[in-house]
Amino acid sequence: MKISGGKFMVTGGVSLIGSHVTEQLLEAGAEEVILFDNYSLGSNDMIGHILDNPKVRLVRGDITRVNELYDALEGVDGIFAIAGFLTLPFAANPALGLSVNALGHVNVLEVARYRGVKKVIFSSSVATYGDPEPGKIDETRPFRVHTMSPPGVLYGSTKIIGEQLGRLYSDRYGVQSVSLRYATVYGERQHYRGVNALYIIETYDKLMAGERPRIPGDGSEVHDYIHVADVARANLMSMESDVTAESFNVATGKATNLNRLFEIVANIVGTNVKPEYKDKEGAVRVTTSSSLDFSIDKIERMIGWKPQISVEEGIERLIRWRQSQS
Ligand SMILES: NC(=O)c1ccc[n+]([C@@H]2O[C@H](COP(=O)([O-])OP(=O)(O)OC[C@H]3O[C@@H](n4cnc5c(N)ncnc54)[C@H](O)[C@@H]3O)[C@@H](O)[C@H]2O)c1
Repeated sequence: MKISGGKFMVTGGVSLIGSHVTEQLLEAGAEEVILFDNYSLGSNDMIGHILDNPKVRLVRGDITRVNELYDALEGVDGIFAIAGFLTLPFAANPALGLSVNALGHVNVLEVARYRGVKKVIFSSSVATYGDPEPGKIDETRPFRVHTMSPPGVLYGSTKIIGEQLGRLYSDRYGVQSVSLRYATVYGERQHYRGVNALYIIETYDKLMAGERPRIPGDGSEVHDYIHVADVARANLMSMESDVTAESFNVATGKATNLNRLFEIVANIVGTNVKPEYKDKEGAVRVTTSSSLDFSIDKIERMIGWKPQISVEEGIERLIRWRQSQS
């Protein structure tokens, strides 16, 4: 499907990822972009510049309400199904998390089928692997849950459900669907809801306040930090491709531990302050392994996507944005 001249809906459009997808859709010549959001988590504060664009239409709606989706989806070519509850909001409100992530996604697909929408790109997560065993993690890895906290397992389960719904609607009704399993997404317009990306912002905030940032454990915990602009590009390229009923890792394939992350932030800020090694009481942790190796071969082979932004460059962009806000 061509982006240029097309009409698209971004559910959860007022979000970190949704706002970047919208920006790239506009750059690629989309005719209209409908941001569909119920404002339960997102807000207009950070996307004022997008809303000023006459090609953007904001619809306050809820994906758990079929009628609201139906009204807004007239003439839409493709949907970026981004609305969802991350692990932290999920832990705070499990009933709503289940409803939005699982039932909300059935609604999106069902209404897409009735409205003749050609393709749905679903925001999935590497949480679909749970806490994976060491070694290369490709898309065939099973969901390993016994070492994980319940919110993480519940969140990952809803993403597995969403992916399988996409395959079902593709096979049965011809609504094309691609699921993108994001690693830890971070970048400009970062919020406080992502358990792992939050660490970057917290470290920066502490350093700016003249305090010592805390590193849990010995700092060897690793994550794969993928910049939100790379994530948005994966969304657009998946929409443009003919691929359907597939899931893809969207990651850098490189693990960064918390000690290195601290070092990167401290270098940008220009400080010699040393971190304090201490666990945060009551914090929700997802996984705490010291090795992580996501394969990105499949998405490169089938969609042609590769990450372009290194973690050093991405964190610098995030911090510059943060500085421009204060
Ligand atoms: N941020 C990450 O690290 C990450 C990693 C993997 C997957 N994901 C997935 O990507 C998606 C977006 O993540 P984000 O970081 O941009 O999250 P976010 O919290 O910024 O965005 C979620 C958006 O969905 C909206 N929303 C929630 N419930 C809704 C409903 N019922 N109807 C309409 N809108 C609703 C919220 O108001 C918010 O604007 C989520 O589905 C998330 O599970 C994110």
